[in-house]
Amino acid sequence: MNSVGGKALGSSTVEQLLTVDDAERLAEAAVPPDAWGYIAGGAGDERTLHWNREAFSHFRLRPRVLVDVSSVSTETTVLGTPVSMPVLVAPMAFQAIAHEEHELGMARGAADAGTLMCLSTVATATPSDVAAAAPGGARWLQIYVFRDREVSDDVIAQALEAGFSALVLTADLPVYGIRHRETRAGFGVPEAGVPAIAAARARHAGDEHHALHLLDSGLEWGYVTELRERWNVPVVVKGLVTAEDALLACEHGASAVVVSNHGGRQLDGAIASLEALPEVVEAVGDRAEVYLDGGVRRGADILMALALGARAVLVGRPALFGLAFGGAKGVQQVLEIFRDETENALALLGCRSPAEVVRAHVTRA
Ligand code: FNR
Ligand code: LAC
Repeated sequence: MNSVGGKALGSSTVEQLLTVDDAERLAEAAVPPDAWGYIAGGAGDERTLHWNREAFSHFRLRPRVLVDVSSVSTETTVLGTPVSMPVLVAPMAFQAIAHEEHELGMARGAADAGTLMCLSTVATATPSDVAAAAPGGARWLQIYVFRDREVSDDVIAQALEAGFSALVLTADLPVYGIRHRETRAGFGVPEAGVPAIAAARARHAGDEHHALHLLDSGLEWGYVTELRERWNVPVVVKGLVTAEDALLACEHGASAVVVSNHGGRQLDGAIASLEALPEVVEAVGDRAEVYLDGGVRRGADILMALALGARAVLVGRPALFGLAFGGAKGVQQVLEIFRDETENALALLGCRSPAEVVRAHVTRA
C-alpha cells in the first residue's frame, strides 16, 4: 500500500488519480528529496513560479450555451503535425532522476496519449534511443547551444536523422537561474548520464563550472536564422514573454514561439506566461503559431490560453509527475486527465473543437 503525505491510499493508487494535483502528490512520494527540489522548485523567491499558476485566476471563461456538443474533438495540429489534444510535453532535462524509464518512458507515454514530446538537449537518453522507444510518436528537439557548437550540432543531426520534425530553441537560459530550493536539496546534475554534457566535458577538460555553464551565453537573434537555414526544419523559439521579442522571432524566421518563463525557473519576478500571452499573440498575428507554457494544470486553463490566442500549451512538471510515479503509464494517465478535462471544458464552453475557441470566450476578472 502506498502512503502519500502521511495518508494511506487504497490498494489501487489509480483510484486516487483524478487530477494533476493528485499526480504531484504521488510523484513527490516517489522521488528522492534532491530530485524533487530540482523538479518542483523555481528561481529566487519563486514569485514567477507562483504567478504562472495564479494568472489563470485573473481571467474568466465566458461559456456559450445551447450549442450542439454531442460530438466534441480535442484534436488539433501543431506545425502541421496532428495531435490528440492542444497539449504537448515540454522539454525537461535529466529525466532519469524521476524514473528509471527516463525519456524513453516519457516518449512512450506521450505517444500512447497521441501527443507530441519535446526532448531536451540535456536528456539522459539520445534522440535515436528515444525515437526507437516510441516509433509512432511525434517529436521535436529542444536546443541548448554549447560553447562548443559541435556538441549541439551532433545532437541536432542525430535527432533529425531519427525523424524529429522541428527544433525548439530555448532562449531564456543564457545563464542558469539562481534556484535555492534545488541548492538546499543538494541536487547535482547527473552529468555522466547526460550524453550531451559528457561530450561537452570531454572537450573542456578541467572546467569545474556547473555543467550548464558549458552553454553559450553569447547567442543572439541571428542564431534563429542560422538554425533555420542550416537544418531546413521549422524553428520554434521558446522562452519569450514580450511583443518585442515575438516580432524579432518572426523577423528571424521562427515558425512558432512558446510564451514561457521556463516554469519560473529563470528570472524570478518575470511576468506570468498567461499575462504575457495577449501581447505576443497580437504582435505575431498569423505569421507564426503561438504556444504557452507555465502553470497549466487544468483543462479550463488550456481553454483560457486558447481563448487568448494560443494554438496549444506545453506541460512540464505535470508530465514529469506522471513519469515519476508511473513511468510511461503514469505519463499517459496524466495526459489523459488533460485530454478528458479539455474535452469536458470544450463542451461546457459551447465549443466542438479547439478551433472554435475564440477571444470572446474569455474576459479579465
Ligand atoms: C524544465 N524546463 C526546460 N526547458 C527547456 O527548454 N529545456 C530543458 O532542458 C528544461 N528542463 C526542465 C527541467 C525541469 C525539471 C522542469 C520542471 C522544467 C522548462 C519546461 O520546458 C517548461 O518551460 C516549464 O516546465 C513549464 O512550466 P510547468 O508546466 O512546469 O508549470
Ligand atoms: C532547467 C534547465 C536545465 O530548467 O532547463 O533545469
